[in-house]
Amino acid sequence: MKIISSPLELKEHLKNIKLSVGFVPTMGALHEGHISLIKKAKEQNEMVVVSIFLNPTQFLKGEDLEKYPKKDEADKKICELSGVDVLFFPNSCDIYGVDEVSILSPKVRGYVLEGQSRPGHFNGVLTVVMKLLNIVNPTRAYFGKKDAQQLNLISLMAKQLFMSVEIVPVDTVREKDGLALSSRNAYLSKDERVEALKISSSLRLSSAMVSKGVVDAKEIRAAMREVLAPLEIFYVEILDREFNRLERVEIGNTVILVEVKVATTRLLDNIWL
Ligand code: PAF
Repeated sequence: MKIISSPLELKEHLKNIKLSVGFVPTMGALHEGHISLIKKAKEQNEMVVVSIFLNPTQFLKGEDLEKYPKKDEADKKICELSGVDVLFFPNSCDIYGVDEVSILSPKVRGYVLEGQSRPGHFNGVLTVVMKLLNIVNPTRAYFGKKDAQQLNLISLMAKQLFMSVEIVPVDTVREKDGLALSSRNAYLSKDERVEALKISSSLRLSSAMVSKGVVDAKEIRAAMREVLAPLEIFYVEILDREFNRLERVEIGNTVILVEVKVATTRLLDNIWL
């Protein structure tokens, strides 16, 4: 596995490669969720590039940028063992300069759900993803369905800015007890982790209600909120795959999303029905 930190060196390295390239952008602290993105990228492409870059512009003031888990050596090992061909490991000054051009997320879709409590977060995400995609110029790029709003906005950006990369959604990976894998799970104490299971329980309840024929969004949201109580709830939403609000669940076209705070940790999860 080749490790490169300079964007120009990476561009040069990839310039004459005629293979299909799968790209997995990450912020490090890799877990099974990231490994499943890498696996998918390996299945579908002849070459795989992973980036590890803790992107400062997607953190708001006072958020967890400083304490975000860092596991550089373990991450390199995971990439190597997963058969990654190139690991892109830039520093902040390799990616950002001063007085920069940036991408603005859409005024509505970028400022609802997670974007409502983290205004501007998605500008940072879209800007760094655009930069990374321009450096790697991959055939396909892989994003987890757990961050469904991020995936939706990145897909929109690729479509609306006529980019040629294919954005590939990858299923969420869960612990045996249902907790969706996230680098931020590392912040949870034992008791908080138990509390966090309410998130996947609420989603399981929603899917059980739909299986029994309950499709009224209001009724499902209310039942989910009961399961989540007394956690601080940012949102419980039932949307179509384009992220428009649904009154009734439409099988094959629905995402049910939850974001809560467990102690000081924001956690999000969703299911696609
Ligand atoms: O999902 C993440 O890890 C990040 O938001 C991403 C897509 C790597 C951009 O920094």
